[in-house]
Amino acid sequence: MLFKKLSDLDVAGKRVFIRADLNVPLDDVGTISDDTRIRASLGCIRMALDKGAAVMVTSHLGRPIEGEPKPEDSLAPIAARLAELLNKPVRLIHDWTAGLFRIQPGEVVLLENCRLNRGEKANDGELAVRIATLCDVYVNDAFATAHRAETTTHALALTAQLACAGPLMAAELEALGKALEAPAKPLIAIVGGSKVSTKLTILDNLADKVDQLIVGGGIANTFLLAAGYKVGKSLVEADLVPEARRIMAKMAARGASVPLPTDVVVAREFSASAEAITKPATEVADDEMILDIGPDSSAALIGLIAGANTIVWNGPLGVFEFDAFAHGTASMARAIAESPALSLAGGGDTIAAIGKFGVADRISYISTAGGAFLEFLEGRTLPAVDALCQRVHH
Ligand code: 3PG
Repeated sequence: MLFKKLSDLDVAGKRVFIRADLNVPLDDVGTISDDTRIRASLGCIRMALDKGAAVMVTSHLGRPIEGEPKPEDSLAPIAARLAELLNKPVRLIHDWTAGLFRIQPGEVVLLENCRLNRGEKANDGELAVRIATLCDVYVNDAFATAHRAETTTHALALTAQLACAGPLMAAELEALGKALEAPAKPLIAIVGGSKVSTKLTILDNLADKVDQLIVGGGIANTFLLAAGYKVGKSLVEADLVPEARRIMAKMAARGASVPLPTDVVVAREFSASAEAITKPATEVADDEMILDIGPDSSAALIGLIAGANTIVWNGPLGVFEFDAFAHGTASMARAIAESPALSLAGGGDTIAAIGKFGVADRISYISTAGGAFLEFLEGRTLPAVDALCQRVHH
């Protein structure tokens, strides 16, 4: 993947337009509950400022109706937080596509929610042409929105005078590329979560690349069923058993494997206070559901992780939100944290688990993205990245 990078460009005195992903969670009164994405975007904004540019930043927030702004769609709380973090004023500009605002080098303005502009979702070329006149350099630093072909992520990248990647975008792509395109072997992927159906393409793509594909959660139940085990009333997708068998066969044909749990933790009801019973995976009764892997499976998994040189993690191994069923995910998170291997993690549940078990600072790279991270794991071309690559020479 070749694209221009902001770090390599001279943008002194230029008008720089940064498409960031500042799509952060807000509570009912508009307070930001997690500002990770705002903090992750500071590097690009500071880089452009340090280089002497006049800096415009925009982002989407939520999925508003174009042309119908509501108070909850506004980036106002984000402008305030940005100003605090940058320690300088950040003006919020409404109706900015008309270009009726002035900005000086050294200044930062935040351009109101780009998904309020008519044509944004449809990747409208005319809107892109209008926005392109506002800037000398377009920077895409929104990896978390790279799977969307919208005006500010795609058409504008093809239209602007100069298009490049910001440092967060470049770092995300570099980390993912290292892990999946030229990984140090053995490469292990852990794919957990509730359903095979939502992760089938990921499992399929990873099955061609990894040495061990560790499945967890409801996904593991479907693989256990495929391997002939009884799973009682566990969350399972019986119709995907043929797919699970195909993936296991594909892995086996390459000399790779899908290690299945040998013991599990079951309960008779789905609740935090349910009695947790540990038993061999061969003995799950009809009225039991698997909610975690057992200690033997955990120990085997820790051994595999210790031998890996690259680890990709998406999705929990059990119902880690309930303490009685969190041990599998917790011990895996700690094993990854202790490993010197390159470790890469992403996805909403995974980030919640990393936070809960306090290992964030010992994972090599945690993606800021949800959907875009998953689409990368699926082996798909991300439209926003593709557009930047098309602009590498001009
Ligand atoms: C995300 O939160 O995953 C990104 O900001 C993309 O948001 P979207 O799913 O609304 O496009």
